Amino acid sequence: MQVLVVGRGGREHALCWKVARSEHVETVYCAPGNGGISLHAECVPIREDDTPGLLDFALSKKIGLVVIGPEDPLCAGLADRFRAAGVAVFGPSREGAEIEGSKAFCRDLCRRHHIPGPQAWTFSDLGKALGFLESHRDEKLVVKASGLAAGKGVMICEDYDEARKAVADCLEGGAFGGAGETVVIEEFLQGDEVSMLALTDGRTIVPLESARDHKAAFDGNLGPNTGGMGAISPAPAANPRTLKQVESQILVQAVHGLVQEGRQYQGVLYAGLMVTPLGPRVLEYNCRFGDPETQPLVMRMKSDLVPLLDATARGQLMDLSSGPEWDSRPSACVVAVADDYPKEYRKGHRITGLEDCGQDDDLVVFHSGTERRPDGIFYSAGGRVLSVTAVGKTVKAAVERCYEALDIIQFSGIRFRTDIGK
Ligand code: AMP
Ligand code: GLY
Repeated sequence: MQVLVVGRGGREHALCWKVARSEHVETVYCAPGNGGISLHAECVPIREDDTPGLLDFALSKKIGLVVIGPEDPLCAGLADRFRAAGVAVFGPSREGAEIEGSKAFCRDLCRRHHIPGPQAWTFSDLGKALGFLESHRDEKLVVKASGLAAGKGVMICEDYDEARKAVADCLEGGAFGGAGETVVIEEFLQGDEVSMLALTDGRTIVPLESARDHKAAFDGNLGPNTGGMGAISPAPAANPRTLKQVESQILVQAVHGLVQEGRQYQGVLYAGLMVTPLGPRVLEYNCRFGDPETQPLVMRMKSDLVPLLDATARGQLMDLSSGPEWDSRPSACVVAVADDYPKEYRKGHRITGLEDCGQDDDLVVFHSGTERRPDGIFYSAGGRVLSVTAVGKTVKAAVERCYEALDIIQFSGIRFRTDIGK
């Protein structure tokens, strides 16, 4: 089969790497891909938002399965277009993807279907939002831009003044543009975070192993939120009891809710959770694989991923004889970023050491944002540049393997967290 992966980040590199290992696959294409992806897939220069271009390509190459990586094209309805053209596609409909595209919708869905989460309030009117804050002066709150903001639209507010500023920045100052025209204000929850991803075709759910993301820019969970600075799998807080609760109260419940409300969902449902003393609570749902969670997850997955993706896309998950098999060893991913990421950052720095850092089956450097120039040399081309990922006997061993590689890999301004998994 020919497979087309849509996207250009570390998640898509991990997906292409895994898909390319499948015995069912002849060629993997990636649109548009990146420098590192070109080692495992044929990159085609079609942007994620060029729907007609992607559709023409898929039809002309007789693509048997399209896998859509990022949220923007899903929220724009790309999966619907492929489905309408008769192409099997892994990714929810535009209406299904709204679970990520609108945090206001997501909170309403949770309310309607009794899914446990923080208390949450939605506002589009500045006066009403400020009035609400006035009457909740002493509470620690989280302010979220409702729309898509590349993981950066969440502000944990230490006090009333910070909450006022966050709300005003969104509703008055135009921070996050249209995505910030509605805000969701949430009760701040304390606990341990877990990311749980499940494949679903709308009828059957196949949960994957758990993972733990590290979203803050700096060590000690300090600094602004980023797309993700590193991840480990499994998540330390994911004990069997919690996982059971997550599956029944949070994953099954959301899929039922979406389907009951007529929203088609064939892809991966990602639940970002806070495990509190009262049980797991939903911080967010995403309509796609997590980045960087996918990198450590695919390295632990022993089964062929393609039959799982294909069965999801065709609504045949129920027919699979078994779920995925996993390496019992844990894995870790450390993301190397450019200087000032997530603020403005510079690109175009030459990357060295990739050939000398000892990559093998247990250590893979996925590329999050690189370009491979005709001389074969890699240059940085994004804020997140590399996702160094390893499997080890323990989380500590996996993380150490990543840091050993990062001792060798260099580019001007390279920065990474030194406390992943601690
Ligand atoms: P989100 O994109 O909604 O998952 O939020 C990004 C990060 O902000 C999460 O991974 C948490 O670390 C934090 N966060 C979001 N919502 C809350 C909340 N209600 N209480 C505490 N922390 C939160
Ligand atoms: N790692 C968080 C996300 O993919 O949204």
